[in-house]
Amino acid sequence: MSTPPLPREVLAQLPTGLLVDGQWRPSSTGATFAVEDPATTEVVTEVADASADDALAALDATSRAFEEWRAVAPRERAETLRAVFDRMTARAEELAAVVTAEGGKPLAEARAEVAYGAEYVRWYSEQAVRIDGLARRAPAGTNHQVVMHKPVGPAYAITPWNFPIAMATRKIAPALAAGCTMVVKPAQLTPLTTAFFAEIVREVLAERGLPAGVLAVVPSSSARRVSEPILADPRLRKLSFTGSTEVGRSLLKSAADGILRTSMELGGNAPFLVFEDADVEAAVQGALAAKMRNAGQTCVAANRFLVHSAVAEDFAAGLVAAFGKLVVGHGAAEGTSVGPLIEAAAVDKVEELVAAAVDRGASVRLGGERPDRRGYFYSPTVLTGVDREAPTVTEEIFGPVAPIVTFDTEAEAIELANGTEYGLVAYAFTRDVNRAFRLAEAIETGMLGINRGMVSDASAPFGGVKSSGLGREGGEAGLEEYLDSIYLAI
Ligand code: SIN
Repeated sequence: MSTPPLPREVLAQLPTGLLVDGQWRPSSTGATFAVEDPATTEVVTEVADASADDALAALDATSRAFEEWRAVAPRERAETLRAVFDRMTARAEELAAVVTAEGGKPLAEARAEVAYGAEYVRWYSEQAVRIDGLARRAPAGTNHQVVMHKPVGPAYAITPWNFPIAMATRKIAPALAAGCTMVVKPAQLTPLTTAFFAEIVREVLAERGLPAGVLAVVPSSSARRVSEPILADPRLRKLSFTGSTEVGRSLLKSAADGILRTSMELGGNAPFLVFEDADVEAAVQGALAAKMRNAGQTCVAANRFLVHSAVAEDFAAGLVAAFGKLVVGHGAAEGTSVGPLIEAAAVDKVEELVAAAVDRGASVRLGGERPDRRGYFYSPTVLTGVDREAPTVTEEIFGPVAPIVTFDTEAEAIELANGTEYGLVAYAFTRDVNRAFRLAEAIETGMLGINRGMVSDASAPFGGVKSSGLGREGGEAGLEEYLDSIYLAI
């Protein structure tokens, strides 16, 4: 099957510069870096490589724009975001083509990501006019208490490559709704989708006569080079990051110096529990959703399949049958259901994790190999008899591999689920509603899917506990992350 390239007319419209004060411009050093299609390893295009000076110029522009944007009426901020949502939706096909070209995911998934990303913009357009306060009489009866909210100030977002549009809108939309301005550093591997989206925002701001510097974008081949000067600048008031726990820890240390508000969506090691009373077919379908979205490259991907021994063989057979029907290929090719991993190192890591499980006695029931084709592919893989201490179980896989571990009691399942430093999401399949609530109490997690392999929703608080992060994105909580309160004693 031939590989459709990114349509020429889409490529021609893609901004490849830095967005500073409403202008696309080259890097001050003239440097660029290449963006690759992971399914072919071919270069899609070159993008301006921001310097430290460019980063500070972006922060200058967003800091100036903040004074104007915070004063814009909430209704106007709402309508601006709604106009961005409408335009994103009208251009969804082009956006999806860019997501696939630089990230590799199948077009159907890219379209779903664009719709998911647009939903954050729509949700926060609706919330912009609902920033509530509080008024009440003080308990002592001596005075009144009024609580008002204000935007925290200029914000900085560092976004990941696995959802280049949805993770950008999940940060930009609440920031703008709250009255904050934002500098975004998109992932080096996928800067094009953010640029496409930022151009939509730029156009809408310009058409409505709003401050151009509300959103700045600084792609860079070195996160440190742009992040360090921005984080050290006292004008910055908020940092939002999605990525690994290791990088999150280091960013938190930098943020501590400036006493910055932070939202940190970090790594996961999601347990997927299947109890003896589960609908096993529904669990297999849930597992497909929880494991194979973006070829397993999501923070919420099911990482460990913990299955009651009474249903383990049925579940494993169902998973092998379901994974066996998946078609691996270029994301833009007709019929593809699993795209490539993002880069060569990702395939090496997945290969090592599978080998480590096999060394400790696991059986490869499906896959366990690189398909014979160009690009960074790994076959959908099912492993059974996996040792609980194997790195395949203790580390985040970020690939299309499902290791199955068995348990015999609910207490054992909970202990296994909690036996990790992470706590982003868990999934559980059971027909017992009492058990579902017991699990919600006992499992150390920020999110729990009951009989569902998918929890993400723009209107719900997404985030984790333990080493999976701080703060929430989405829903009402996502807006509060960009607001300070002021309490008046009257
Ligand atoms: C992530 O993988 O970080 C986000 C996935 C989602 O929002 O569903």
